[in-house]
Amino acid sequence: MSELERVPPGVDPRVPSVARVYDYLLGGKDHLAVDRAFADKLLAVAPETRQVARANRLFLVRAVRHLARRGVRQFLDLGTGIPTSPSVHEVAREIVPDCRVVYVDYDPVVRLHSEVLLASSPGVEAVQADLREPGAILGDPRVTRLIDFSQPVGVLMVGILHFILDSEDPAGIIADFRTWMAPGSHLVLTHAMADSAPEAVAQLSTATAGTPAQSVFRTREEVLRLAEGFELIGPGLAPVHEWRIPDDDEYEPPIPLLEGVPAVRIDAAVGRVTSSPDSAEPARH
Ligand SMILES: C[S@@+](CC[C@H](N)C(=O)[O-])C[C@H]1O[C@@H](n2cnc3c(N)ncnc32)[C@H](O)[C@@H]1O
Repeated sequence: MSELERVPPGVDPRVPSVARVYDYLLGGKDHLAVDRAFADKLLAVAPETRQVARANRLFLVRAVRHLARRGVRQFLDLGTGIPTSPSVHEVAREIVPDCRVVYVDYDPVVRLHSEVLLASSPGVEAVQADLREPGAILGDPRVTRLIDFSQPVGVLMVGILHFILDSEDPAGIIADFRTWMAPGSHLVLTHAMADSAPEAVAQLSTATAGTPAQSVFRTREEVLRLAEGFELIGPGLAPVHEWRIPDDDEYEPPIPLLEGVPAVRIDAAVGRVTSSPDSAEPARH
């Protein structure tokens, strides 16, 4: 069967999808010619992008383990991507066997794959929704059935925030989630940085302009502003391949292949909620 024939309804095979391009970079099997062509152009100007994608995923795994070890028993994974192993619930359940996870992504291909994968996993749910509509996510009964917002929750925004344009108010979106997050909750984020190599920024900006994959490379100050209201743990905002908590049980040295500055730089941060937002306004739950 040709690729065009097996594209699910609602998917335009002429437009690259972030989820499928990322799947290709990670060595997965769920991508189309248009995704591979897009990724190959990117790899031509930023050859280590595969390692950066892998490092982004490994950071997510380390952060989830870290949170689970510190008692977080539920996760909201926003911008899940096409399921890859280990997934968030697999990682967290090695430590908290009954942990609950809701996966959210707006891509129909992600939903199809997640539904198949999760059909036999109680305590795990996949929801097709758009991060730019936080109210719809936070009010979705499939989310509130599994996530108890009176308890600490890990909110993952890994590899997604640079797809939210300034005009779409990423800070406001994060603040909406923040008001629901009880003390002990954590925000886990990664973000494409403005001090990436100019030719890589230009390539990505041109190739994605006007598409759903349009990417915003933000400065360190801009990304730190997005995380305002959270207490950053470990090294603060740091390159994704270097982010570590030095005294963590899991400590492993930074990925040697990525020493130095990659052309596409992705930074990571984990921020803890230490009190209810404004002591005047307790977390909504
Ligand atoms: C680069 S992948 C990251 C996957 C995973 N979080 C990781 O870091 O391994 C970004 C994912 O975010 C999803 N995404 C992008 N914008 C979104 C939005 N506004 N709402 C929901 N999902 C979105 C894409 O479909 C894609 O699956």
